[in-house]
Amino acid sequence: MKGIVLAGGRGTRLYPSTKAVSKQLLTIYDKPLIYYPLSTLMLAGIQDVLIISTAEDTPNFKRLLGDGAHLGMNICYAVQKTPRGLADAFLIGESFIGNDNVCLVLGDNFFYGTDITMILNKASQRKEGATIFGYLVKNPQDFGVLELDAAGNVRSIEEKPQHPKSNYAVPGLYFYDNRVIELAKQVQPSARGELEITSINNAYLALGQLHVELFGRGITWLDTGSPSSLLKAATFVETVQVNTGYYIACLEEIAWRRGFIAKEEMIALGEALKMTEYGQYLLSYRGEYSND
Ligand code: DAU
Repeated sequence: MKGIVLAGGRGTRLYPSTKAVSKQLLTIYDKPLIYYPLSTLMLAGIQDVLIISTAEDTPNFKRLLGDGAHLGMNICYAVQKTPRGLADAFLIGESFIGNDNVCLVLGDNFFYGTDITMILNKASQRKEGATIFGYLVKNPQDFGVLELDAAGNVRSIEEKPQHPKSNYAVPGLYFYDNRVIELAKQVQPSARGELEITSINNAYLALGQLHVELFGRGITWLDTGSPSSLLKAATFVETVQVNTGYYIACLEEIAWRRGFIAKEEMIALGEALKMTEYGQYLLSYRGEYSND
């Protein structure tokens, strides 16, 4: 399975912070925002990743992540000239996806919690159809929203409805089979002029091929699209890391745990960062302090 991180957009809701730098390069506590969605793809076992961003920001992502070889990954880059909508990812990424299935994660979405690796693996192993998720929120009107019938089956998905039919938002993490490319080509711009991911999800629903998994209370999902949600995410990461001693979205550690790189390679990456707490964390796996 291939993975795409959609990390473009103008970030206007975060101006002036994002006037000179991509939203996905802003810091969430101790690492850039894009580390979090990238870690989600890695936890799903995905090693081939396309990062889509703007022409101005792409060189900075390349400086940050390179070709991914140090993480045992293959990371490539593509430019989205204008933010035409999320479904554009599959048009831009058509040749990258090839004949594979694909997972799209939005560059500003943060996932963490119990059994997340198991949930992601289950979704990535499904060969046919689409898998999306539902998450209970207080402000569903800000998201794609599930309409469920009495039996809990999905009847429709509405993009930012004024009168939401449930409190289940659809987070920015989507697993699709290869048909997504053809379905994306058929999507017409919405009233707000965007190629909506919700149109693709409704197309899978109409085909009877949409699987929806509801995240339970053990999972934290944050859409870091506002100053307050950025702060909330940073505080969350700090609290978990300091209290448990385990890092969230430490890419080198995940690469090692998923078997993308050897432990010695992770330690060498830690050496290069040893002046930071992040590097010290990696070095703590040398064996002296840890039973892992
Ligand atoms: O966060 C989940 C929500 O994401 C879903 O519930 C909605 O169904 C979905 O439409 C989307 O809504 P948002 O309004 O949050 O999307 P936003 O425009 O903020 O874009 C999400 C990310 O994708 C953001 O990091 C910028 C990037 N982006 C967005 C667009 C429209 C691009 O890179 N290119 C684009 O064309």
